[in-house]
Formats: sequence, C-alpha cells, structure tokens
Amino acid sequence: MHKIEELIELVSNEIDKLSFKGTPAELYEPIEYIMSQGGKRLRPILSLVACDMFGGDVIKSVTPAVSMEMFHNFTLIHDDIMDRAPIRRGLETVYKKWNANIAILSGDALFALAYEKLLAYENDNIIELIHLLNETAVGVCEGQQMDINFETQDNVSIDEYIEMIRLKTAILIGACLKAGAISAYADKKYQDMIYDYGENIGLAFQLMDDLLDVYGNEEKFGKTPGGDIRENKKTYIYLKCIEIASEEDANKLKDYFSGKEFDESEKLQAIKALFEKYNIKAITEELMDEYYKKAMEILEQIPCEDKTELLRITDLIMHRDH
Ligand code: IPE
Ligand code: IPE
Ligand code: MG
Ligand code: MG
Ligand code: MG
Repeated sequence: MHKIEELIELVSNEIDKLSFKGTPAELYEPIEYIMSQGGKRLRPILSLVACDMFGGDVIKSVTPAVSMEMFHNFTLIHDDIMDRAPIRRGLETVYKKWNANIAILSGDALFALAYEKLLAYENDNIIELIHLLNETAVGVCEGQQMDINFETQDNVSIDEYIEMIRLKTAILIGACLKAGAISAYADKKYQDMIYDYGENIGLAFQLMDDLLDVYGNEEKFGKTPGGDIRENKKTYIYLKCIEIASEEDANKLKDYFSGKEFDESEKLQAIKALFEKYNIKAITEELMDEYYKKAMEILEQIPCEDKTELLRITDLIMHRDH
C-alpha cells in the first residue's frame, strides 16, 4: 500500500509534466493558470487510493486520475461564471482575470483535453472509463442546472437539494474512486460499492463546502465568503433553517433569498444571525455525519485487506477547512 503522501506526490508530478502552451494565448493561458494553482487534488488522490486498495497499478492509474482532475478544473472555470465568483484558491477566477468568453472557451478546451489525457491510458478497460466520465459529465451538468434553477425557485425541498448536490459534486467523487477500482480490475460489484461510498462522502463534502461558504476563513478557504448567500443558493443550511424557524424568521429568510436587491453586507449579517439563532451549523454537521456513517457501512462490506489510506483521506475530507 502506498501512503497518501506518496500518491499526492505522484499526482502532482504528473500534473507538473502537463503543458498547455499554444496559440491563441488567450485560450491556453487560463488552462495553464488553473491547472498550476494546485487545489487539494482530492479527486485524483482518491482515485489512486482506490486503485491501490484493490491491488492495481497506481502508475498506470495516474493517467485517468489526472484526467478526472482536469475535468474537475474545467467544471470550476464554468462554475465561477455561473456563480459570479471573483476568487478561487485565493486567486482571481478565470472569468474575472480574463472574461466570460475566454472562460467558456478555455473550459471547453480543457474538457476535451481531459479526454485526450484519458486516452493515454492504453488498457483494454478504457471504454469503461470513457463511459464513466461521460455519464459523470452529463450528471454534473444536470446538477449545475438544478443549482441555477433553485436560485430563483422558492419551493425547493431538502430532497431536491440533496439530489442536486449528488449530481453536481458527489457523483464525481464516486466516479474517481470507481475509476481507480476499474483500473485495478476490481469486481464490478466492488466498483459499484466504492462508487456509492464516494457518493456518500461527496454529499458530506458538498455540505462542508456550503458550510465553509458561510463560516470559512477567507484566506484559508480561498473563496469570497457569503457567495452562496449573495447568489440566493438554496443550500441545506438555508432550507433547514426555513424548516425549523418561526414563521416570522422563515419569512424574513425567504424575503432575503427572493431575488430582491439588498445591501450585500447587511443581508449577509442578517442571514448569519438567523443561522446562528437556529444552530444550523451543528445541524448540518449532523447530516454530514449521517452520510459519513452510510459510507462506512458500505466500506465494511468491501473485502479489501488494507483500508487505512482511504480512511485517512476520508478523515481529511471530513475535517477540512479549505
Ligand atoms: C470545489 O472542489 C468544488 C466543489 C465541488 C465544492 P474542491 O474543494 O475540491 O476544490 P479544489 O480543487 O481543492 O480547489
Ligand atoms: C460546485 O459547487 C459544483 C461544481 C463545480 C460542479 P459550488 O459552486 O458550491 O463550488 P464552489 O464553492 O464554487 O467551489
Ligand atoms: Mg456553483
Ligand atoms: Mg461555485
Ligand atoms: Mg460552494
């Protein structure tokens, strides 16, 4: 078994080897920019941990793992346009540094380059990986569309929110783990189980992202706090608060998220005070824990000898501050 530290090194060496030079420079520079920022690179690491856990060859598997990270970075470029987010990883987002047209095109190119990277994995099961990435890409688009729809939809249910984050975030985490299992030629049954494990961890991961968006330390988190509140994102934090708040407070919250113009910092303060009043942070952490427990129940059923590294990286994900 490789330690996650070794796998992090393997992934970062492989990403360092990538080069995105070309003309027009406006198309390639944003790709180079986002791919060289780092980020946590959790997805390729998860992929390699799964590969290793199922007895596969991590050197071979690093190719699909990095293609997943390229796909992830493509989604971030486009997500920041949609969310009008100015800062990511402590730096200007692509569409702010350049412009939205450049962000659309460099994102499109990065998406294609992710497939090109995947094709460099020359094994007989590559078709399975291509299907997996295709299914995931379509699912992420579905989730992203739901996310955008919810901004102006006023009767979003918690179940709908969970389905939305499953699609926009959790299935990619599941797919990365499954890609590792596929490259290790694990039994189909265990490929699906590790995918389900990832989906549950992925749901907790997005709940944490939503919490950090409200409570995170700007410098560590690397994104502008309160972005979701500004954009009227119907997160679990918001939906749960509506559910348990007094009628008066619930109406206040709904009014703030109705799309009317408010002073941004006044809105942020008022919303945070309401979240505080109803102890929403702790309630959200409880839900994260439920998904964590579901993931653990699934993992228990997978007969791998050594699950230490998967448990270690999962623990980092559950307790992250950025
Ligand atoms: C951000 O993902 C997008 C979400 C699904 C919340 P990460 O938090 O993994 O971003 P980086 O790649 O580490 O910056
Ligand atoms: C991320 O959701 C989903 C995708 C990028 C597909 P968010 O919009 O919450 O991600 P951040 O917070 O901007 O990273
Ligand atoms: Mg978004
Ligand atoms: Mg966003
Ligand atoms: Mg977010």
